Amino acid sequence: MSRAADDVTITAYPDGPLLVRGAAALQTVDGETIEVTRPTVALCRCGLSTIKPFCDGTHKASGFRTDV
Ligand code: FES
Repeated sequence: MSRAADDVTITAYPDGPLLVRGAAALQTVDGETIEVTRPTVALCRCGLSTIKPFCDGTHKASGFRTDV
């Protein structure tokens, strides 16, 4: 099922990940496609996740802040 780009939204959560809603796939910098099977995925932006590019919740324990 393909989705229009208009159907994809990205929300930057304060002190947390980027939530991507509606994406059918993600692409790494190497051009590898990561199929998305869930309606919403969380992308790490603290850099500490062990399952990059996805958020694993480590940002909470690390005290990652987006307002500094
Ligand atoms: S933003 Fe959640 S682990 Fe990095």
